[in-house]
Amino acid sequence: MSMTVRRLSRAATAGLVAAAALTAAAHSAEAADTLGSAAAGQGRYFGTAVAANHLGEADYAATLDREFSSVTPENEMKWDATEPSRGGFTFTSADRIVDHAQSQGMDVRGHTLVWHSQLPSWVGQLGASDLRTAMNDHIKGLMGHYKGEIHSWDVVNEAFQDGGSGARRSSPFQDKLGDGFIEEAFRTARAADPAAKLCYNDYNTDGVNAKSNAVYNMVKDFKSRGVPIDCVGFQSHFNSNSPVPSDYRQNLQRFADLGVDVQITELDIEGSGSAQAADYTEVVEACLAVDRCTGMTVWGVTDKYSWRSGGTPLLFDGNYDEKPAYDAVLSALGGSGDPGDPDGPGDPGDGTATCTATYTRTADWNSGYNGQVTITAGSEPISSWTATVTLPAQQSVSALWNGTPSLNGNVMTVRPSWNGTLAAGASTGFGFTVAKNGSDAAPTVGTCTAS
Ligand code: XIL
Repeated sequence: MSMTVRRLSRAATAGLVAAAALTAAAHSAEAADTLGSAAAGQGRYFGTAVAANHLGEADYAATLDREFSSVTPENEMKWDATEPSRGGFTFTSADRIVDHAQSQGMDVRGHTLVWHSQLPSWVGQLGASDLRTAMNDHIKGLMGHYKGEIHSWDVVNEAFQDGGSGARRSSPFQDKLGDGFIEEAFRTARAADPAAKLCYNDYNTDGVNAKSNAVYNMVKDFKSRGVPIDCVGFQSHFNSNSPVPSDYRQNLQRFADLGVDVQITELDIEGSGSAQAADYTEVVEACLAVDRCTGMTVWGVTDKYSWRSGGTPLLFDGNYDEKPAYDAVLSALGGSGDPGDPDGPGDPGDGTATCTATYTRTADWNSGYNGQVTITAGSEPISSWTATVTLPAQQSVSALWNGTPSLNGNVMTVRPSWNGTLAAGASTGFGFTVAKNGSDAAPTVGTCTAS
């Protein structure tokens, strides 16, 4: 498909976007919100990764079209898919996704231009000078084809190593071109499509750690030297080994404070039921709390096609039924659910009120520490909660906020102050300051009860 045709199809989309906006506005109070419409109410997009080969499945397409306002091709824009031989560009599968998205008035995220993985072997065989030319040609070829049609591009993906070093990851680009390959890619990208937001994207950078510090320092350096970068993507693939970090919001905020947008780009959280729902709530709330968090993308529509399908990490099960995690996300986005669904957000059902309490130490010094207990409602809304915190014998509490404590020896029972009412899956919490009196042991948090 030529660039001209693509530009025309872009123009035709404008009318469809307007039509979609009208439909959203026409929603009556009774109608259920969708992820996309609820996120739009918060000034955000809500997207999903899409695979071209599933678009022909009626339930897949219906769920995609109803719920999401942005799509990311899961594999179809990667180097091996778009330029399998040097200069031999193929866009058939990626075009199918872009055309589908445009016909539905959805935005498209571009993923990804320069990455060590899903890279055809010919790229790794080039010498430095040829590799530089090939990298720039790839960026120009791909971005040129979709010029004006992509809201954000992941220009460089996963260029830093995991673990504590904060070093760059070995790749043909890093090994042959050195640290400068990233800024060169961004400069080439800016010239290729000035309308697209240019993002750096990575994983295990979701909390404050050595890897995210290294990315942070790079972005700070780019901003100070005028290297064109507009956003940072946080993949956010979570499971029990890599849980939602307690400083997620704080980490998003510190990047935003550098003057870039932040986006949650590949969200999936392994698990099920109310625990998974609570984790999703935390992520959505973190994004909504950061002005420059412009949108969220989950890494697939249904569990059955997830790259981690064994961990059932998405919002729809294999039958496209909404999971508790879906209700929690919709509720956190301020949307209201289907009145026919007694367990939907905003629809108190006849289920039992439940909650969970989790503890983290949020600050630490020689003689004391601050603790935070997060209270999360289960699959029903709650109007009050009670949590107990048992302190090690020597320790004593000197302050407590966002809760009403009553003390019995070393057992503190905490009830809400202003924050008793929670929607299904929603969270609140209380904090406290402890004097260690020589003991650094952690308190234990008992079972949360709700009504
Ligand atoms: C994954 C896809 O979901 C799989 O289908 C594919 O086999 C491998 O790549 N980080 C990224 C994504 O940036 O491109 C990856 O997607 C998941 C990890």
